Amino acid sequence: MQKIGIIGAMEIEVERLKADMTVRREITKARMVFCEGELSGMPVVVVRSGIGKVNAAVCAQILTDEFGADCIMNTGVAGSLDARIDIGDIVISKDVLHHDMDAVNFGYPLGQIPQMEVFSFEADAALASLAEEVCREVNPDIAVYHGRIASGDQFIADKAAKERIISCFGGSCTEMEGAAIAQTSYLNGIPFVILRAISDKADDSASMDYPAFEREAAQHCVRLVEGLLARLAKKQ
Ligand code: ADE
Repeated sequence: MQKIGIIGAMEIEVERLKADMTVRREITKARMVFCEGELSGMPVVVVRSGIGKVNAAVCAQILTDEFGADCIMNTGVAGSLDARIDIGDIVISKDVLHHDMDAVNFGYPLGQIPQMEVFSFEADAALASLAEEVCREVNPDIAVYHGRIASGDQFIADKAAKERIISCFGGSCTEMEGAAIAQTSYLNGIPFVILRAISDKADDSASMDYPAFEREAAQHCVRLVEGLLARLAKKQ
């Protein structure tokens, strides 16, 4: 891996990374500020995409085309879909799908993108497994899970919406960008991994928990991203 694109949807998810990196240049494209430089010994481009799948897909494509990123990491927070996965814990993607893709009346299973050969997008297995190992080292006080991430253009904050996602797709957590980044990476043939810290339980308590825990959760992801980059740098 020569250059890692690192996407966070919100400033809180990238501000620490930007503060810790050596910035060589900053370029604005599609209203997003791409910070290129080095972080933990690896060449990186760190960017805040904005929230939602369209922003995330545009951002991932620019990282690939304009900056030559050959690997994409997405860092941020998410709502838990599994009672065992608690606020503060980390979920590393095994596969990622769109929980709001619905072409059922067009003859496709719920979640399936019509005429696409895969149902979900598989994260890079070696990167995910390294991330899991690094996470146990740098965040010893929290649990780390490797599982399915369900993305949609919805902040999930009620029990019924959460149960619908779980019954249709299973999954470890839900958020609003991962599947778009995964799909863009898949289309470009680039390895990716989604790293998410749990900020809420995606149920009726989510609107209250999210603001209380997002900063602390985002910090767990920062430690993971920086640790993972350091390990990748050692392997170079
Ligand atoms: N990001 C963090 N929590 C979330 C939730 N409950 N739904 C969607 N995205 C989220």
